[in-house]
Amino acid sequence: MKPASPDMAWMNLPNLPLSVKVLFSGYLLAIGLGLCMAGLQIMLTHGMADGKPGLSLDDIVYSYYGDRSGSQIESKLNGSMKEMGTPEARLDIVRWVRAGAPEADWEPRLKDIFGQHCVMCHSTTPNLADFTKYEEIKKLAKTGEGASIQTLTRVSHIHLFGISFIFFFVGFIFSFAVGIPKWLKVTVIAFPFAFLIVDVISWWATKWIPGFAWLTIIGGFGYSVASTIMWFVSMYQMLILSRNGKVYGNVWEADSK
Ligand code: HEC
Repeated sequence: MKPASPDMAWMNLPNLPLSVKVLFSGYLLAIGLGLCMAGLQIMLTHGMADGKPGLSLDDIVYSYYGDRSGSQIESKLNGSMKEMGTPEARLDIVRWVRAGAPEADWEPRLKDIFGQHCVMCHSTTPNLADFTKYEEIKKLAKTGEGASIQTLTRVSHIHLFGISFIFFFVGFIFSFAVGIPKWLKVTVIAFPFAFLIVDVISWWATKWIPGFAWLTIIGGFGYSVASTIMWFVSMYQMLILSRNGKVYGNVWEADSK
């Protein structure tokens, strides 16, 4: 067997051949733009989940766990529908809704209450739910449950497959970086994968226990920071550091010592 070429001194980010530099930096540019767009999208979708701009713990809780503070019926009965029924009728409705709006109690008791106080509008007015129908009320009596299992499985596998691809190539490029202690390089390459897994697990955990929402923040923050570091170091070494004309030698060989 022929021993590995002792030189291959070009095998490091500053000394890579121009063609490979174009390939690597082109990829990093496109990926960088993609990551900014992903960040923007998170702000525009999850960021608005609690009705206020900006990403907060509440947004994450609402997205995955849901707003379980009450159903739409209950919040309307405390809001714009407050004057519609007597206090007793409102209390009866709220109790029934909180019990999960069981169909067994619908006829005749609840149907009568809705009939007396609500259906003069809610059955005749187009665009308003028809409160003579149990199914329509049942829909409004549901509390928010956050992301469904179907959504979670779909988003989880897309994230795990897709994003690990990104981290694989970003880490691969970064593995050619010079002048970085081996332990640090290994850590920065491993971090995004670890945080990605933490992130995905945290969505599932938050679906049942809202306290896990902070883990989503840590996960997302962790892999953004690690990949940003790799991005900037790689770009800097390929495009700027290389101008000093120095020969750095084979990095992979140096790292394997
Ligand atoms: C005088 C007419 C009127 C009566 C009586 C009335 N509502 Fe409404 N309701 C409306 C209007 C108009 C809207 C849409 C505007 C809004 O959401 O405030 C509405 C909206 C709602 C909504 C939001 C869902 C939807 O269909 O748009 C709920 C829930 C609701 N009402 C519950 C009730 C309940 C429960 C009662 C009986 C205690 C009641 N309403 C009595 C006129 C009425």
